[in-house]
Amino acid sequence: MDVAVLGLGEMGGTHVGAMRASPHVGAIYGYEPDAARAAARGKELGVQATNDLAALLRNPAIKLVSIASINAVHAAQAIEALRAGKAVMCEKPMAESLADARRMVEAQRETGGFLQIGFELRYSRIYTLAKEWIDRGLIGTVVNSHCRYYCSEFHSKNTWRSNSPGTLIGEKLSHYIDLQRWFTGSEVEDVFSMHAPNVVPYFNHPDNHQINMRFTCGAIADLNFSMYVAESDHRDPLLEMLEKQADDGHCLQYHIFGTKGAIETDVFRRRIRRWAFTDSPERLVSKLAETVRYTPADDNAWIHNTHGQNLRIIELVAKGLPPETPASDSFETMKAGFAAEVSERERRIVRMSELATA
Ligand SMILES: NC(=O)c1ccc[n+]([C@@H]2O[C@H](COP(=O)([O-])OP(=O)(O)OC[C@H]3O[C@@H](n4cnc5c(N)ncnc54)[C@H](O)[C@@H]3O)[C@@H](O)[C@H]2O)c1
Repeated sequence: MDVAVLGLGEMGGTHVGAMRASPHVGAIYGYEPDAARAAARGKELGVQATNDLAALLRNPAIKLVSIASINAVHAAQAIEALRAGKAVMCEKPMAESLADARRMVEAQRETGGFLQIGFELRYSRIYTLAKEWIDRGLIGTVVNSHCRYYCSEFHSKNTWRSNSPGTLIGEKLSHYIDLQRWFTGSEVEDVFSMHAPNVVPYFNHPDNHQINMRFTCGAIADLNFSMYVAESDHRDPLLEMLEKQADDGHCLQYHIFGTKGAIETDVFRRRIRRWAFTDSPERLVSKLAETVRYTPADDNAWIHNTHGQNLRIIELVAKGLPPETPASDSFETMKAGFAAEVSERERRIVRMSELATA
């Protein structure tokens, strides 16, 4: 099948790379709204790029549209592509408002089309291994999970990211909320979130968040994020220099506690560990049961597997299979993020039942 990538920036280049590597793909087309940029990026990436989106969507040979454009246009482009009969892979965040995310799910239902959101951490080995351990019952029932994510400012002044009034909850933390839902296997019931005054003065949104969630099963989760403590590095800290960054202020860890054990994922130490709990006459006994490490060559597959995710989505579409994560599931992740924003604005616990359903 022929395919198209909308938005030929950094992530657009990654999407083109997966399409080129897929045995299911013929011609690759690209779209950028500015004609000169379309021509320049098309040449750099070796794709036929245009600034005429309507013409791309009219092309019957294009079966899959991959959206890697700026967040503000995700919803409109996904809906237009679904209505044109295309399968759609759309980068996170789904949209900048809950109403727009809901419109995407509605368009998917109306058209019966394929829509999967780019929550690539569900394809990244460090997290799929944690999920396998949970599903095998190795830590019992998940009751509590903590995510700590500290990094440097790598969004830069005067970019769409730092200028956006939309918070980093959608742009970055939706990945980590999504994992907490996935690990817990339950739906978020209520959310309380706070942020401190900014350290980064030129961000048009908070640079830190502390999000607390309670799930319907009784489990709780928290997510603690700040974007300034780590030593400055102008590349994505998830992709480069992990060894250097392991002890310079960067931190990306989950601690997942269950009734029979616990799991720790540690991106900057390239390690995942599991503890097993047993009873004894005196106390609950905990034993470190398993440690799995990976090498720098495997970083992308273990912590940032956009490539593997995209290859899989292309395969699903080519074989006429449904998305592995339905858009309605990703909507629940987005909804928890929007609930956190409401909580921060209104300084109160927000019940998920107050917000729209998909
Ligand atoms: N899944 C992940 O881990 C991950 C990582 C990075 C980025 N992303 C997502 O990918 C998307 C792109 O991020 P990026 O890092 O490539 O940003 P980028 O700034 O490098 O690229 C964005 C591109 O979109 C283009 N653009 C602007 N308006 C557009 C429009 N109306 N239609 C189509 N293209 C338009 C810009 O010209 C630019 O080329 C964002 O939604 C981001 O959240 C996801």
